[in-house]
Amino acid sequence: MKPPSMRLADLLSTVPHSSVAGPVDALVNHLTCDSREVAPGSLFVALKGFHRDGRIFAREAYERGARVVLAHGDPLEPAPPDLTWVVCPRDREAFSAAAAALYGTADRTVRLVGVTGTNGKTTTAYLLRSIFREAGGAGMLGTIEYDDGEGLRPAARTTPEAHEIHRWIRILQERGIPYGAMEVSSHSLVLARVKDVPFRVAAFTNLTRDHLDFHHTMEAYYQAKRALFDLLAKDGTAVVNVSDSYGQRLAEELTRKHPLSVGLDRQAQVFPESFEMDLNGIRASLATPFGPVEVRSSLTGGYNLQNLLVAAASALSAGATPEQVSEGVASLRGVPGRTERVDAGQPFHLLVDYAHTDDALKNLLQTLRELQPRRIITVFGCGGDRDRSKRPLMGAVAARLSDVLFLTTDNPRTEEPAAIARDVETGIRPELRPGKSVRTVLDRREAMREALAEAGPGDVVVVAGKGHEREQIIGERRLPFHDPTVLFELLQEMGWR
Ligand SMILES: Nc1ncnc2c1ncn2[C@@H]1O[C@H](COP(=O)(O)OP(=O)(O)OP(=O)(O)O)[C@@H](O)[C@H]1O
Ligand SMILES: [Mg+2]
Repeated sequence: MKPPSMRLADLLSTVPHSSVAGPVDALVNHLTCDSREVAPGSLFVALKGFHRDGRIFAREAYERGARVVLAHGDPLEPAPPDLTWVVCPRDREAFSAAAAALYGTADRTVRLVGVTGTNGKTTTAYLLRSIFREAGGAGMLGTIEYDDGEGLRPAARTTPEAHEIHRWIRILQERGIPYGAMEVSSHSLVLARVKDVPFRVAAFTNLTRDHLDFHHTMEAYYQAKRALFDLLAKDGTAVVNVSDSYGQRLAEELTRKHPLSVGLDRQAQVFPESFEMDLNGIRASLATPFGPVEVRSSLTGGYNLQNLLVAAASALSAGATPEQVSEGVASLRGVPGRTERVDAGQPFHLLVDYAHTDDALKNLLQTLRELQPRRIITVFGCGGDRDRSKRPLMGAVAARLSDVLFLTTDNPRTEEPAAIARDVETGIRPELRPGKSVRTVLDRREAMREALAEAGPGDVVVVAGKGHEREQIIGERRLPFHDPTVLFELLQEMGWR
């Protein structure tokens, strides 16, 4: 990417600020809120963090070459004469505006779709990327990876900070990549990270209890999600899943923005006219205002049908054709760690999912139950040094909804794996019914081996908890461990390939 360059005075004309001390003729070619990323020409944004006041890093930023600091208040110590100090009481909004101005992303040449909701963001973003690849190319920002259309890198957080988002948009612009799909977390909305992102489409999947440590109440959590739709320009489209009760409310509140409703029944504008679903996937004929769309997906389960509806409606609204939607959905083989299929030709279904809370495990296993496998064989464990109260709850859910359980290790950290397993067992025991069985096998690879040996035609083996993670944390050590890879190796040892 060509480095951007902008005179500070010009940059400040678009950034809400209350005072400027120092010269304004400096050229800015980079901005960041992390003093370690500062280089000559950087503008350093000293955010008022939750734990630390960014102003304490102003000196380090200056020493690394920053000549402009943007902060929510005055300097903590007298600033050097060649450092310009800009006070922006709404520091995060200023950061977002500065990022948009420096990277020149307001022109909307890239068609951006933002996806928000408690669940299904990653899955929907993968579907969108796959569709947009059929429609000329796409970038993606999300929980698992950041994709700028040419390269991938592992994600640090679901929605990055404003400077990374706008830098990504600029790269897509320069490469002529027509589409971008973004997961938008509620944190990022509250923290104004996406405030100046010119979305064409904003999509809502669902809202359930989560992240209340951060938002405190469901109402605040809902309002945080809603903010994405308030950001949408008048000619943008709000795609809302009305099969979710908060989605229904959102669609009602957005009537003046002409939301496009999606849902499982005919009240919605985009809905499945007919569908078939089994453990191999979903086939559906969708009715949409853009014409009928046939989809075949290797994703399965009721909630993935909803994710498919949201993705199809969003892609069509952003400009993809019904054919591109069909082809893009069909070519997505899976989403890493989200009911990810592992297939070496064995005669049973094998799925990896990162469900690691009792609620997620319940959703996952219930959805699989509806698909009526012969038996569900579940391999799972609970993490160490974390909330102990969820252990018996996870045990109970797993036992209630599975036929055979293999209780194993999942990031025990500094706790004794056997002690964690005992906590889980207290929840399992009351749920064991005749015909159900549980075995505790603390070595995760060994537990998987036994589960695979147990499985027969028509069964589904579910390996829950780690999903796309690539390590297992035992004590202080991080050991390489990737469930899909280990399972594939085990299947090969068994003679499948
Ligand atoms: N529409 C949905 N409704 C309910 N549960 C879902 C839905 N889609 C996916 N899930 C479940 O939630 C898990 C997470 O899905 P996904 O990663 O797509 O969501 P996410 O919103 O990106 O989550 P996160 O906030 O953790 O990044 C899946 O493994 C699946 O079990
Ligand atoms: Mg995600």
